[in-house]
Parts: sequence; C-alpha cells; structure tokens
Amino acid sequence: MINIASSFTLPNGSILKNRIVKSAMSENFGTRHHAPSKGLINAYKVWAKGNPGLLITGNIMIDSMALGEARNVVVEDYKDFELLKKWAKSVEGTGVHLWPQINHPGRQAFAAINRETVGPSAISLNMGNTSKMFKLPTALTEEAIWDIIKRFGNTARIMKEAGFTGCQIHGAHGYLVSQFLSPISNVRTDQFGGSISNRARFVLEIYREIRYQVGSGYPIGIKINSADFQTGGFTELESLEVIRLLENEGIDLIEISGGTYEKPAMIQGDRKKSTIAREAYFLDYIEKARKLIKTPLLLTGGIRSVSVMEKALKDGNLDFIGLARPFCLYPNLANQVFDGSVKRFETPIPNIGIKFLDKLGGVELPWYELQIQRIGKGKSPKTNLPGILALWFSLKSLFVKSFWRNK
Ligand SMILES: Cc1cc2nc3c(=O)[nH]c(=O)nc-3n(C[C@H](O)[C@H](O)[C@H](O)COP(=O)(O)O)c2cc1C
Repeated sequence: MINIASSFTLPNGSILKNRIVKSAMSENFGTRHHAPSKGLINAYKVWAKGNPGLLITGNIMIDSMALGEARNVVVEDYKDFELLKKWAKSVEGTGVHLWPQINHPGRQAFAAINRETVGPSAISLNMGNTSKMFKLPTALTEEAIWDIIKRFGNTARIMKEAGFTGCQIHGAHGYLVSQFLSPISNVRTDQFGGSISNRARFVLEIYREIRYQVGSGYPIGIKINSADFQTGGFTELESLEVIRLLENEGIDLIEISGGTYEKPAMIQGDRKKSTIAREAYFLDYIEKARKLIKTPLLLTGGIRSVSVMEKALKDGNLDFIGLARPFCLYPNLANQVFDGSVKRFETPIPNIGIKFLDKLGGVELPWYELQIQRIGKGKSPKTNLPGILALWFSLKSLFVKSFWRNK
C-alpha cells in the first residue's frame, strides 16, 4: 500500500520525499518593488521544517506590467537575483523541493494596480458588482503572445539559476493560460483560438519554451482546471484532452484544480454540501485522468482529513495530496500527519456578512494571506483574526499600490 510518507520518483528522476504538497498560495508578501521580502523567505523556512515533499510558491508574475495582486513577487530579470537565491536556500538541508509557480494574470488583474490589462480577446470579466474592479482587456497581438511565452521561459530559467528545484505553470483559476483555454474568454480566430487544439497552443508553447530554457531533466509541472464550471466554458472533456497533449510533451507533474474568479470553485464558492463533506473537490475528474495518462497527478482542493489522504493514495488515482489553506494554520502540517498528532486540519471560512464579497473569497483569501504573513514574521497563526481586518489589508494594499501603478 502506498502511504503518505513514501517517497516518489518523478519520471525525470527527481525524488520527492513524501506525498504532501503545499499548493500555491499568493502570499501578497513581496516588497513594494516586487522582490521577495525577508518575511516571505522566512515563511518558507518554517514550512520547509514542517517536512512536506514539495512546496510550491504563490504565483510569481512574469511581467511587472501585469500584476495579480499589489505585493506579488515579479521575476522578469536578474534585479533581485541575490534575494531569489536566499529564497531558494530556505529549504536547504531539509530535502524539501521548492518550485515557483509562474503566472500571468491576463484579464484577472485589478484595474487599481494595472495601467492596462490584456487577454486572448477583448472580453470583460462577468462578476456582477465587482466587475468594475477589472478593465476591459486588450486582445493580445500574435507578437505579444510570443513575447509572453518567452517571458514564462525567462522566469523559469532565472528561478532555476537561483536554485529552485522545479517549476509550475499556473494554467488554472481563470488567469491568462486558463483564459486561452476557455471559449468564454478566447474567441480568437487565429491559431490561438477556435478548436481545443488551437486554444491549447498557448500553454503547449509555454511548456516548450520553458523546457528549452531550463533543459531536460528539470521538473516542469502545471496546475490546470478540471473545468471552469461555467456554461460555455472550458469543459472536463477539453481539460482531459489538454492533459493528454501535455503528457505527450513530457510534462512531469499535473495538479488538478478548478474554477475562475467568475466561479471560484477552487475555494468552495457555492459548492454543494455533499462535496465539501466528501472533501477532495475534483476527485471524479482525477479518476478519469488516471485512466487516460501516466503522468504523476496531484490533487488539490478541500482535502482536510488524514484518512481521506490515505484513501485517495490507496485507491491509486493520484500520487500527491495538495493542501493550501491548511498550511496557513498548520505550518508543521506534514510532521503532524506523520506523527499522528493531527487527524484533521480544520480551516474556517472567515466572512463579514457582505454576500457578494464573501462568496468571491474577498475576505477569505486575504485572511489566509495574513496568516502566512504571521508565519513569516515568526508569529503563530491566529484563528480568531477578524475578517474585517483581512478586507482592510486587501483594500489598503490595492489602494497604496494604485499610487505607483506598474512602476
Ligand atoms: C490565500 C490563497 C492564495 C491562493 N493563491 C493561489 C495561487 O497563487 N496560485 C494557485 O494556483 N492557487 C492559489 N490558491 C488556491 C489554492 O492553491 C488551492 O487550489 C485552494 O485553496 C484549494 O485548496 P485547499 O482547499 O487545500 O485550500 C490560493 C488560495 C488561497 C487560500
């Protein structure tokens, strides 16, 4: 029987020492100039001591002109190389892998902090009251698309040179890669739009460019949506086709998630009570994926109990268990799984009673970011942190950043 503590060798030979993965969480904890802060690096030291097999960083942007959040780390050149080296060293001596998650937000970029936003097509986000926080994106020219593809490779190479041990493309949650995959946001009529093979061209070219820049033998993973869960969006069948194409290219690890800002299935949103109770939101999909491909699979979303982790591994439909919010409250998580001291990692859903904000994770996400920041500052997570404080932190960081947008 496969157990959580057993090691796993990726097809390229990299060994992950156990099956627990900290999934990417945007920490919103870079410096004003988008370098990794001391606190951010420290949070990874703490997490590494907790002993998971793999830590995936929060999304790192490839272009300072395209920010997802005010305090994202941006890696587009060697300006912060010494700090990146320090960050890579945060796992030194622990045997824990550290991979950056590499991202471009496309149209999911707040207007307050971006002068211009781009997307596959000029189609706005449809988010009711909160749509106004985002601009109508400019449709990318083919030349601009190739520039972005190069940038993904550039960021991955710099991170590799700094000492990170693999990387992950953010292909999920409605950001640019995911926008290209979805017929809702991509109505292009050129080679990057239309059929699923055309819509997948962007991500396949990103994979090829990263591979070209980091060389063979270096792990490249992707986080991808099992579906957008929106009418007319990226479907499960299309997603299965894309992971098959990625396997053909030689991708090393596929993480399954789902949802977009418009439909945030990745963090519960309006998910059915039965799915929450079963934990593992995207389990049905991963069973289908397993039958189709041999690439190692990582499942993230809703997993909380050690018994669910054990069963998922035992059933053989996945190779790694991804957890995000639990790592914010239990930084020593993997050790606690292995020594049996915690059987279930509870994660509250903080809210402030303003329905549309609560539903979109407008309080929940910054609340968990604040917990990461506490960890980085050497404090313990605080489960009674008021939701309103998280909202204030989020609005403040957007407001302050709006004064020096994209500088
Ligand atoms: C504060 C916060 C920030 C997040 N940032 C990212 C991110 O940068 N990239 C990403 O792929 N997912 C991000 N997510 C989603 C998580 O990786 C994960 O898919 C989701 O929280 C479900 O897993 P969980 O139930 O174990 O928390 C974020 C989630 C939270 C709570």
